[in-house]
Amino acid sequence: MKVNNVSLTISAVSAAQYPATGYPEIVFVGRSNVGKSSLINRLIDRKSMARTSAVPGKTQTLNFYNIEDQLYFVDVPGYGYAKVSKRDRERFAGMIEEYLSTRKPFRGAVQLVDARHLPSEDDVSMYQYLKYFNVDVLVVGTKVDKTSKAKRQTIMRDIKRTLDLNQADQLIMFSATTGEGKDAVWDWLENQTGI
Ligand code: GTP
Ligand code: MG
Repeated sequence: MKVNNVSLTISAVSAAQYPATGYPEIVFVGRSNVGKSSLINRLIDRKSMARTSAVPGKTQTLNFYNIEDQLYFVDVPGYGYAKVSKRDRERFAGMIEEYLSTRKPFRGAVQLVDARHLPSEDDVSMYQYLKYFNVDVLVVGTKVDKTSKAKRQTIMRDIKRTLDLNQADQLIMFSATTGEGKDAVWDWLENQTGI
């Protein structure tokens, strides 16, 4: 999809603030600093629509990005960052749970994992959590520009094994730096939302 019009509709902290337009929604989840905001920016060809940062914990609300009046990307706070207080962690988890358990236009999740490392325990828990809610998940291995091409197959196999990836869920390797994987991610998004 070629995206020209994108706007941040709302940074929500509770369901009452979610948009009422009814466009299909895709949520982006992953640990802090894994590259969620960078993936969103690359998908929509903007440098800084979703705010990125070298400092983990930048995103603290559910940010609804209106894409061409056709769908919403929902950028959510990352998990697994030790410096986020317990109170904030619980607040973020509550916000995500409220969304997943109540949101009707929700069509699926893109879960990001760092392609340079095996998925963490937090990544595994998040994947299991999404499966508990029967969510369709696309797993995206990020920062693949920092890994060697020769190791690609091994990395993909290890990510699938560690997450115990469901047959129905896909894994795509991605780089926000080079744009690798962007078209494949859009194919999944279009298929998932019917746009
Ligand atoms: P939080 O909002 O804190 O949860 O982080 P996030 O997951 O949104 O990560 P963000 O997109 O802000 O990226 C974190 C850092 O990783 C930034 O310094 C990015 O420039 C860098 N980064 C993201 N994606 C890539 C990638 O594909 N390749 C490389 N080399 N760096 C990346
Ligand atoms: Mg972010």
